[in-house]
Amino acid sequence: MTTAPTGAGTPGTSTALLDVRRLRKVYQGRGRAVEAVRDLTFTVGAGEMVCIVGPSGAGKTTLLRCVAGLLGCTSGEVVLEGEKVTGPPAGMAVVFQEYGRSLFPWMTVRQNVERPLKEKRIAKAERRRLVDDALEAVGLAKVHDAHPWQLSGGMQQRVAIARAVAYEPHILLMDEPFAAVDAQTRADLEDLVRSLWKRLGVTVLFVTHDIDESVYLGERVIVLSNSPTVVLEEVAIDLPGERDQLTTRSDPRFAELRTRIYKLVQQAKDGYRPAE
Ligand SMILES: Nc1ncnc2c1ncn2[C@@H]1O[C@H](COP(=O)(O)OP(=O)(O)O)[C@@H](O)[C@H]1O
Ligand SMILES: [Mg+2]
Repeated sequence: MTTAPTGAGTPGTSTALLDVRRLRKVYQGRGRAVEAVRDLTFTVGAGEMVCIVGPSGAGKTTLLRCVAGLLGCTSGEVVLEGEKVTGPPAGMAVVFQEYGRSLFPWMTVRQNVERPLKEKRIAKAERRRLVDDALEAVGLAKVHDAHPWQLSGGMQQRVAIARAVAYEPHILLMDEPFAAVDAQTRADLEDLVRSLWKRLGVTVLFVTHDIDESVYLGERVIVLSNSPTVVLEEVAIDLPGERDQLTTRSDPRFAELRTRIYKLVQQAKDGYRPAE
């Protein structure tokens, strides 16, 4: 086993918060090995909003779980703020697709949001302030005493976002967080994520299979091949920073970017991959 030369990626630029270097993940199951991710290298700068897009089964969740330290990689490495990730890092929060399963049904909204802060051993008064601010930011201040099962899917996902935000992470990972909500709610939640990102200066890595969503949210979109995964292309999203559902989505540049990424994802589905 040799370690890949680190020269393969961008040399440690001072602004890179997250550095994924030659990441490979092979799942070992009952005598059968599945190479999910072959070779991924990319960086995310501090304060950036980067979207990862790729067809279903492209290894997006595998990548995110490796970045989050929830899954060990077979080779390569993930470096966050200069430190190699070997388990869930302190400065990171994750929002998953299955919000229903990520919230504790027997706890109130407030208790759910507060829980990771208790684990972080934050003092009570400070916890209270962080929880109040986060619930206010996602528009859930009024339902802090409700239980998750009393809320709609979109509201439950807001709770998950509030919980992540209250934690004050340096980086927020999101894995298709809005895949299970209706289109209107989804648009609202996209705007919520953009506004929280702008306001808090947090770095966001957002995974989606929705091409429009990746263009609307991202400053940069990384397009993945199908599994075993490599990076097909990185596309800079040169749309104005102020975005809104109507203006941005009817911008001709939005259509161009969407077409470009659509073609790339189509190629990925057809099994195209860059020469190795
Ligand atoms: N626990 C696992 N064991 C074996 N194979 C897996 C496991 N999880 C995912 N895979 C396989 O890895 C590939 C990528 O899956 P995944 O990361 O879930 O993709 P995506 O999130 O892009 O839909 C798929 O071929 C999937 O079947
Ligand atoms: Mg997935």
